[in-house]
Amino acid sequence: MSTFKAPKGTYDLLPPDSATYLAVRDAIATPLRNSGYGYVETPGFENVELFARGVGESTDIVNKEMYAFTTRGGDQLALRPEGTASVLRAALEGNLHKSGNLPVKLWYSGSYYRYERPQKGRYRHFSQVGAEAIGAEDPALDAELIILADQAYRALGLKEFRILLNSLGDKECRPVYRAALQDFLRGLDLDEETRRRIDINPLRVLDDKRAEVQKQLVGAPMLRDYLCDACKDYHEQVRELLTAQGVRYEDDPKLVRGLDYYTRTTFEFVHDGLGSQSAVGGGGRYDGLSEMIGGPALPSVGWALGVDRTVLALQAEGITLDLPAATSVFAVPLGDEARRVLFAKVTELRRAGIAADFSYGGKGLKGAMKNANRSGARYAVVAGERDLAEGVVQLKDMESGEQEALAVEEFVAVLKEKLKRA
Ligand code: HAM
Repeated sequence: MSTFKAPKGTYDLLPPDSATYLAVRDAIATPLRNSGYGYVETPGFENVELFARGVGESTDIVNKEMYAFTTRGGDQLALRPEGTASVLRAALEGNLHKSGNLPVKLWYSGSYYRYERPQKGRYRHFSQVGAEAIGAEDPALDAELIILADQAYRALGLKEFRILLNSLGDKECRPVYRAALQDFLRGLDLDEETRRRIDINPLRVLDDKRAEVQKQLVGAPMLRDYLCDACKDYHEQVRELLTAQGVRYEDDPKLVRGLDYYTRTTFEFVHDGLGSQSAVGGGGRYDGLSEMIGGPALPSVGWALGVDRTVLALQAEGITLDLPAATSVFAVPLGDEARRVLFAKVTELRRAGIAADFSYGGKGLKGAMKNANRSGARYAVVAGERDLAEGVVQLKDMESGEQEALAVEEFVAVLKEKLKRA
């Protein structure tokens, strides 16, 4: 071990487990790629103001959890705590919204940073795969995104997840509700910090996990009862579309997300095997965010799924993904002449698109075969001086244990055939 360790709240992805992470990212991205979403990549840091204005000054994410810093040049930057503000900033800067092709549908995959108190499922560096559909107000678009996330989780074999759904209203009805909620909350017996929260972000108080707070919240006004007709109708359409597609969800009138930009549809994917950090993904509509960061009105909707927690959810359900072995053929040369010949053959196999590896370091037969085994290769190709003198190599089927001699000149073609059939 070196003197250094991964920083607190972070961990490394190492083989063989890292293969599962790649597969999870891929499983989430596949339905998006298949539904008109184009790949977007933005910098790992942004102007700190983008998140302050976009995610919201009153949120924990901006107030307590952001890695903000001043560069040597005096710029105020922050490591990105989430993807939505950056992706919208990039779409606006790249004028994608002016192409006359709305909604602009984008997907992304990357690292995010929050200075949180680390625990299982909650890290300071984590990864998300996300999707944003920018510039259209259409309940079918909200439904599409929820359906695609559901499809991704199902493709991974997950069963014990639930979809929580709510509407947070819009700029017409939410202020009325907010005022009613503030009135109610001000009459309760709450601590200093929570009282401050009533002024800046009263909806978050509903989310308080403490029993003594929850007890007092019985009878609090519910946003559901304040939704304007347009919001009610919109929400009803989202619900109907999901139901018609056979996607099950639970109405959760108390679902408040930790980011300020949401309007109307909000949802969260929770997994019941994960304990307190049960949200494997979340998202919603953010019709006002573009204007909040200086852009034109662009109603939008999106989500992000947490890769780390999705992997934990797989573990909780005892699911091992059926990942193909990284290596199909493992070459074991015995002696210098065999090294030269087999190295050339391995290169040839790789150039033909066959995953092949080679025993390095001049190992003997026993050690090299151990490596061949560990590689998961279906075939090992072994050659010693005597084989080469006869113009052959030994091809060993690692599953059946059978071995056959093949002409040096022929075995690449034979392997291609065999692997095609396998
Ligand atoms: P979020 O709910 O803050 O939403 O994060 C989405 C997911 O990222 C969470 O459900 C969780 O799985 C994962 N996640 C968040 N924080 C951590 C952490 N500290 N450790 C491990 N995993 C974590 C957003 O980020 C929004 N940008 C989603 C969105 C996209 N809304 C609209 N478009």
